[in-house]
Amino acid sequence: MGRKTWDSIPAKFRPLKGRLNIVISRSFPAPPQDTADPDVEPVRAASLEQALDYLQARTPEELGRVFVIGGGQIYDAALKLPQTRRLLITRIMSEFECDTFFPLGTGGGDDCAAPGWVVKSKADLDAWTGEEVPAGIQVENGTEYEFQMWEKE
Ligand SMILES: NC(=O)c1ccc[n+]([C@@H]2O[C@H](COP(=O)([O-])OP(=O)(O)OC[C@H]3O[C@@H](n4cnc5c(N)ncnc54)[C@H](OP(=O)(O)O)[C@@H]3O)[C@@H](O)[C@H]2O)c1
Repeated sequence: MGRKTWDSIPAKFRPLKGRLNIVISRSFPAPPQDTADPDVEPVRAASLEQALDYLQARTPEELGRVFVIGGGQIYDAALKLPQTRRLLITRIMSEFECDTFFPLGTGGGDDCAAPGWVVKSKADLDAWTGEEVPAGIQVENGTEYEFQMWEKE
């Protein structure tokens, strides 16, 4: 995650539990160093590329799945990397005033995807996540949204 996203998480909820957190800031030293306790301190990386290099030195069993969790600047950097091949999106159908934006357009229609990306089926999404994801448009407090999985064509 980007440094601003890290800053936006209340101190008592970070690092996010049960996973290695890597925070990216141009002010961090290179290369990233191991953290003494991943439940207390994140790994700090000076770029997304350095974060990936750090992770790729791990075995597949240690590594598990790698998620880029924002914000806008780090999504933008991630979308330029060839390793980025799947997007897990909560598509919100309502209009809001916003100050940070996902770099790919998501407007246009229920099944809209950006050029070079395709929206996968609900069965594909369930298979990839290993759980039954709520199907179709959901409504919460009057806001409509849908869980989608996009993959690179
Ligand atoms: N809806 C979502 O999925 C979602 C997810 C996450 C966050 N958010 C929201 O997004 C907002 C934050 O997004 P944001 O775009 O402002 O910030 P961000 O991407 O979280 O973090 C930006 C910071 O990351 C570092 N950075 C960015 N690009 C870099 C690069 N190429 N190499 C090295 N470091 C780089 C810089 O840190 P330094 O300035 O320290 O160098 C930069 O200031 C928050 O409001 C958060 O709540 C939404």
